Amino acid sequence: MKEVQDHWFRKAKEDGYRARSAYKLLAIDERFRILKRGMRVLDAGAAPGSWTQVASKIVGERGEIVSVDLKPIDPRGLPKNVRLICGDLRQISLADFGGYFDLILSDMAPDTTGVPMADAAISVRLCNALLDLSKEVLKVGGDLAMKVFEGGEYLELLARAKNIFCEAQGYKPTSSRAESVEMFIVCSGYKGRKFDQATTATRVKPPLGPGWKSGG
Ligand SMILES: C[S@@+](CC[C@H](N)C(=O)[O-])C[C@H]1O[C@@H](n2cnc3c(N)ncnc32)[C@H](O)[C@@H]1O
Repeated sequence: MKEVQDHWFRKAKEDGYRARSAYKLLAIDERFRILKRGMRVLDAGAAPGSWTQVASKIVGERGEIVSVDLKPIDPRGLPKNVRLICGDLRQISLADFGGYFDLILSDMAPDTTGVPMADAAISVRLCNALLDLSKEVLKVGGDLAMKVFEGGEYLELLARAKNIFCEAQGYKPTSSRAESVEMFIVCSGYKGRKFDQATTATRVKPPLGPGWKSGG
């Protein structure tokens, strides 16, 4: 198993990606074709930035990637179509994002506690926050691909995603470790606000304050 990890790690170095995660997004895109030229994309949980590298190349200079993470992302070497926001995704509003998105990507992961059930519950909460955010910032017809740790509430999350999007399905790229509980839920065709009955109250106050950084 270590050999598989080393393979993706070495390949990322050779290909100039900041992390091996790049191959997960490339695999998702090869399977579902979610990234297109000219798109405006939100990359949630983007540090150190390999998904941003992949997405910014595909959308091209007419597109835009807004990359958000709790940790600062090094802007060096990133193209001009990337905007960086340092902060908690759950606290950012449409105005701060600068408009609606065609696609939301999320490789967001909580700091793991080592207790699988607790980690899965936190991960599902982050995904519910993304579904809530979709209603605020995603264009009708837009897509969402998000990482989740599979656990007790995975099926409920998938059901909620199916309610909000025309299609939603789980997918595990080969570059994701087989023993890892991580899965991706890929959703296409956002139906619009009225289709989500669930209220999850995952958004947290307040909007951008002085502690927020934007750049890139
Ligand atoms: C696996 S890493 C992402 C790797 C990235 N996709 C790449 O390719 O370089 C997960 C990231 O999610 C971020 N994260 C977790 N919770 C977050 C939140 N509430 N808001 C913003 N970022 C968050 C973490 O700080 C971490 O950098």
